[in-house]
Amino acid sequence: MKTQHLTFPKDFWWGSAWSAEQSEGRGETGKAETVWERWYKEQPYRFYQRISSETTTDHIHRYKEDVQLMKQTGHNSFRVSISWARMFPADGVGEVNPKAIAFYRDLFTEMTTNGIKVFANLYHFDMPAALQDKGGWESREVVDAYVHFADTCFKEFGDLVYHWFTFNEPLGPILGSYLEDFHYPNIIDFKRGAQAAHFTILAHAKAIAAHKKHQLDSKIGVILNLSPTFPRSQNPADVKAAEIADLFHVRSFLDPMVKGIYPEKLIALLREYDQLPADYTEEDLDCIKENTAQILGLNYYEPKRVKARLTAINPEGPFLPDWFFENHVMPGRRMNEYRGWEIYEKGIHDLCMDIKDNYGNIEAFISENGMGVANEERFMDEQGQVIDDYRIEYIQDHLAYLWKAIEDGCNIKGYHLWTFIDCWSWINAYKNRYGLVSLDLKTQKRTIKKSGEFYKKLSDENGFSY
Ligand code: BG6
Repeated sequence: MKTQHLTFPKDFWWGSAWSAEQSEGRGETGKAETVWERWYKEQPYRFYQRISSETTTDHIHRYKEDVQLMKQTGHNSFRVSISWARMFPADGVGEVNPKAIAFYRDLFTEMTTNGIKVFANLYHFDMPAALQDKGGWESREVVDAYVHFADTCFKEFGDLVYHWFTFNEPLGPILGSYLEDFHYPNIIDFKRGAQAAHFTILAHAKAIAAHKKHQLDSKIGVILNLSPTFPRSQNPADVKAAEIADLFHVRSFLDPMVKGIYPEKLIALLREYDQLPADYTEEDLDCIKENTAQILGLNYYEPKRVKARLTAINPEGPFLPDWFFENHVMPGRRMNEYRGWEIYEKGIHDLCMDIKDNYGNIEAFISENGMGVANEERFMDEQGQVIDDYRIEYIQDHLAYLWKAIEDGCNIKGYHLWTFIDCWSWINAYKNRYGLVSLDLKTQKRTIKKSGEFYKKLSDENGFSY
């Protein structure tokens, strides 16, 4: 095959992402208990090797060193999340924490003075536990507390942040908390999940309205995990199954958060099964319509392949999207053997084309994409550097399709990898390592992986030969 140099548009955002709970550590600023800390106290055995979010990269103390590492690995932009629990240590409400403001202002200043644009996300799965006790996303009071937190962040950090995001993967906590049992408080109840989803979408819209009032230069949007969905076959039953899976997993948040309206077919289906949320008003729907994302982050890891259900469902059992489809592992597909996800690089192109064709070609970027690998120390050389050629190959294969999407007219502004330094990952803790930089959990020593060196060259050359 002929090698070609794939050059990306000028000022392309090269960077990576992580979140507060996964990287900061508690520090001494004061911080309310989060649902992750609460859950760990209640059920430590649910967490891989019983490691909690107390064991992190300790970024809160090491951020200056980390910003230098960002530079050394070619970052011109980086996504952090701002911890609601740190900003409002009295249970997520009340007085704002001056020490938290000082920390984030220092970090963002350090980043901008080193040429790294700040992408700030307001919520990455880290609800203050006391607000979860009040109903979490099922409560209008919690929506108001979130909007107050967001408004405070716009006021305190608006001069330093390049772009804002209301939520990372808002579908995740809904699936995990209400349908699939991987997120506190682990309730199986679709209708309550639909309520929480509606209020999350309302919170997104209200935060955008607040951002507009501050008249900042930055844009505000949302980061969604989207998997292009494919039927196992063209058999009408499989095709229908894929259509319904797509409604639940892709359009459910994408349509209201970007277009301002819920998908009609999804609403009709939920109405038919009596699963619409109990509390939604015309005023909510108007607010959602008027305040849509101005920029869209796309987290892409794997496609979704589905087939019609083969096994009967019990209509007496709890309502679940799984009533309508089953996941399908397509034989012969390339898998990430370490994480168990299918590797399908063309999916990144399919996803971008969907956004171009159906969402007004809104300004977008890949906000997460990456390769989790278990026991990565297997690939360390004698100097302690992880030689992760598999990750370099993964990045290149996806970027080649991203480049093609841009050639095909998609409005893509950048690529952020998951992640920067290996970080704590919820119930998986440190099982899967994703970073450009490895972390020694005992010494906190950071070492740039081979992929980190590759990433620097990629960013310097604004492209690569493929
Ligand atoms: C992303 C999340 O979807 O997946 C991250 O935004 C998470 O927060 C990442 O850490 C990797 O997850 P896992 O389960 O493979 O470690």
